[in-house]
Amino acid sequence: MSAVLAEEAKPSARREAASAIAVVLLGTGVVGGAFLKLLNTPAAAALRLVGAANSRRQQTEPAKLAERNLREQLKASGAPRDDAALLAALDASDIAVKVIVDATASAELAARHAEWLARGYHVVTANKSLGGGELSGWRTLQAALANGARYGDAATVGAGLPVLSTLRRLRQCGDALLTLEGVFSGSLSYLFNSYDGSRPFSVLLREARERGYTEPDPRADLSGEDVARKLLILARNAGFALGADEVQVEGLVPEPLRAVDTGQFLARLEELDEPLAARHAEARARGNVLRFLARLNQRGHARVGLSEVPGNHPAARLYGTDNQFALTTTRYHTQPLVIQGPGAGPEVTAQALLGDVLALV
Ligand SMILES: NC(=O)c1ccc[n+]([C@@H]2O[C@H](COP(=O)([O-])OP(=O)(O)OC[C@H]3O[C@@H](n4cnc5c(N)ncnc54)[C@H](OP(=O)(O)O)[C@@H]3O)[C@@H](O)[C@H]2O)c1
Repeated sequence: MSAVLAEEAKPSARREAASAIAVVLLGTGVVGGAFLKLLNTPAAAALRLVGAANSRRQQTEPAKLAERNLREQLKASGAPRDDAALLAALDASDIAVKVIVDATASAELAARHAEWLARGYHVVTANKSLGGGELSGWRTLQAALANGARYGDAATVGAGLPVLSTLRRLRQCGDALLTLEGVFSGSLSYLFNSYDGSRPFSVLLREARERGYTEPDPRADLSGEDVARKLLILARNAGFALGADEVQVEGLVPEPLRAVDTGQFLARLEELDEPLAARHAEARARGNVLRFLARLNQRGHARVGLSEVPGNHPAARLYGTDNQFALTTTRYHTQPLVIQGPGAGPEVTAQALLGDVLALV
């Protein structure tokens, strides 16, 4: 290249760096893997991957990061996990906008989000552990956001559904959340949309697990804890500073099955059948159906658990693994604003992460 051309190339390189976004990806599982696939699409042309990690290994070499089978490579090769080396790769990039994408469920990593924000990195996350964890963590997060770094958390609730963005927009316009109700778990939605008493609940649960609708250990879904984290995130974003212990959670796992290992739990699923069959029969006798609902009322009382709803209730008309969020606000008070659709799945969740990353520039 001639000296003149090289000189001409500099402004365009500077322009490219100005519109680009340097990305470190934590977690290359189901969601992280889908995010890596999105990086190869035109929509993600502005993103430059400078580091990627699973729980044991990481990669910061540009040639290796560009390989299409990066996710598989990381299972067998790469440097040992070290956050400092990933942050150094972000620092070394001449791209000004630097983001850490957390596609893990690690509470340890979530506890570092505030520190990263305070250091000027943006954070985009599917990990609910900070926003839906202890109130002190939430407050630390709010304080860290004061310096201008941004926190993209769309993927933490409803996967790709525009729930948090809608809630924030309403608040920005002076509207206030009065009550919130809905089905926030794809697996629990599927289970109770399908359960009509004709087949034991344990049979449905085994089927749902085989289809990948539940976690490998379905207690992660049945406990209601994941739904409680989502309710906390929504409540806090609506202005209710709730502590983690202020959500009343009525899970579906009977006491004797809580401490056993996964294998034993799966072998004893039939123990769930009788109590649920009895509740189902009682609900049906009253013309109602069972749904696993999250609810927040005007006084900030938050509850997660199995509820009876009449057949004309919005949650009674859900399909498959759909999520539903019904927001009653000062302006949507005659009928709630209802957001409904697939609330889980790798592609839509990865898309929510990408959307939050793209919103940074
Ligand atoms: N799946 C969905 O539809 C969905 C929807 C909305 C939100 N989410 C949320 O998205 C997150 C990821 O879900 P997933 O389904 O992708 O889970 P997953 O398949 O279990 O993947 C988790 C990934 O995180 C990695 N990881 C764990 N600790 C790490 C650490 N300290 N540093 C770097 N990587 C670490 C794991 O590494 P190894 O591979 O080494 O184990 C794995 O690659 C979770 O918080 C989940 O709640 C998921």
